[in-house]
Amino acid sequence: MESTDDAPATEREFGAVVPFLPTGSLDAIATEMGTDKRSAKHDYMRFYEALLSGYRDQKFTMLELGVGIPSRRAPSLRTWKEFFPNADIVGMDIREVSKEFEESRVHVEIGDASSPKALRRIFRRWKPSIVLDDASHFWSHQILGFKTLFPMLPPGGIYICEDVHTSFSGEPGQSKYADCDESFWQLVARLQTAIASGKSHPHISDRHEQRMVAWIDAILVSRKTVAILKRQKSRKRDLPKAKS
Ligand SMILES: C[S@@+](CC[C@H](N)C(=O)[O-])C[C@H]1O[C@@H](n2cnc3c(N)ncnc32)[C@H](O)[C@@H]1O
Repeated sequence: MESTDDAPATEREFGAVVPFLPTGSLDAIATEMGTDKRSAKHDYMRFYEALLSGYRDQKFTMLELGVGIPSRRAPSLRTWKEFFPNADIVGMDIREVSKEFEESRVHVEIGDASSPKALRRIFRRWKPSIVLDDASHFWSHQILGFKTLFPMLPPGGIYICEDVHTSFSGEPGQSKYADCDESFWQLVARLQTAIASGKSHPHISDRHEQRMVAWIDAILVSRKTVAILKRQKSRKRDLPKAKS
């Protein structure tokens, strides 16, 4: 006999299924603002909404590296402003014209994201809890941004690096973004190995990276984007041994 039950097959056969990454209000705002983070383009917002919804009504600062081409009028900064009604949103861009997109709770700093000095200056001024790198996507810039700013984040802070598919767009020397020997993904993969194995030292020789591992709670990978979550306290056994 033909079933009249039109419930989806999954619910009929398996019981409830609760998607962790449903399309929600952040994607709706991103679509309205026209940022390429929306589901019709890179489809990052489902992941970001799950990751960042705890911040929704909080008072905090978010820093995004890369404001975007002027004709689009800073769509991601306007998206964050709408999604986080009590937050200050700071964009950093190398192009002076980006200043035009300042409005209440949206601030723009002009600076070169490949300069540790500029990154530190802007970070110290605004003290963000969340940093999102969507600037040049050059390997050296992504690595430098992360290595400079992750240690400065407060405990529990979040560092996101977007468009990490640029790590895979060719062998070094062939990719437009491959301006150094190591890609951002190669760095992340090494850190992930340390996190997954629970042991920093056999996998990581660099003391600065060991210190970073001691502060990483989780590395979350979604399609083309990576979020690195900072622990509340450093994990002592991962800290580099004092030099004798
Ligand atoms: C992909 S767009 C950002 C898009 C925007 N975040 C959005 O989602 O709508 C990249 C931006 O990074 C900026 N940029 C490129 N190199 C940079 C650098 N070295 N320092 C700071 N900004 C840079 C560009 O001027 C451009 O506005």
